Amino acid sequence: MTQPNKEIVIQRYHKIERVNHWVTAGCFVLLAISGLAFFYPAFFWLTGIFGTPQLARMLHPWIGVVMFVSFMIMFFRYARSNILTKDDFAWLGSVDKVLKGKAVGDVGKYNGGQKAMFWLMSFCMITLLITGLLSWHTYFGEAVAIPVKRVALLLHAASALLLIAGIIIHVYAAIWVKGTIRAMVEGVVSQAWARTHHPKWYREVMAKRDEKAETQSGSSL
Ligand code: HEM
Repeated sequence: MTQPNKEIVIQRYHKIERVNHWVTAGCFVLLAISGLAFFYPAFFWLTGIFGTPQLARMLHPWIGVVMFVSFMIMFFRYARSNILTKDDFAWLGSVDKVLKGKAVGDVGKYNGGQKAMFWLMSFCMITLLITGLLSWHTYFGEAVAIPVKRVALLLHAASALLLIAGIIIHVYAAIWVKGTIRAMVEGVVSQAWARTHHPKWYREVMAKRDEKAETQSGSSL
């Protein structure tokens, strides 16, 4: 039976990719809450979310390890699609036009802004892991000199604040461009969304779809 109103959508993320993304995002929220509570006394009450301040202190580094591993899976999956090209620098240079709703350049799976954000996230993740391990007193307390720990904690806080600022922009952009959240919730986007925001990627997906349909009709002859 044909369904005349059935929307034809494009798959952007598989279920496993979405689970991977939301595990990373969930860890990030818990880390930001506990981290801010340790960083600034006015936020200390936030440790209540974990039960007790001691529990928050104990869980923070472990959740950090889970976030790092989870992000690394995303890193290896998406790194190739996030390599910056000349077109991406042109996109970044015309970001004012983008904000006014104008299309800039022939955008592939990700635009210049998303790619720059991807590398910022990757940089922060590595810095957070190294500085986090250096200041993890329970396991590395004796091995790391106090001045090193001081510098590590300073860099840990700085990269955490940078990542929080980055994620605020990441979330804002996902809400701003209508239909983007759906990509990470349902795994699909509309054809109009793909054509408007990622025209090069749209053509690639469509070409693959046509190729598949041709081979299928060829093999059924
Ligand atoms: C907390 C709320 C978050 C929301 C609402 C959110 C939303 C989204 C959405 C809608 C996409 C799909 C964008 C597209 O396909 O064009 C996406 C992609 C992505 N997100 Fe998030 N995200 C959140 C947190 C995070 C966090 C904490 C990280 C990692 C630190 C992260 C890393 C990524 C990456 C790597 C991608 C793929 C984009 C790329 O490779 O350039 N997200 N996110």
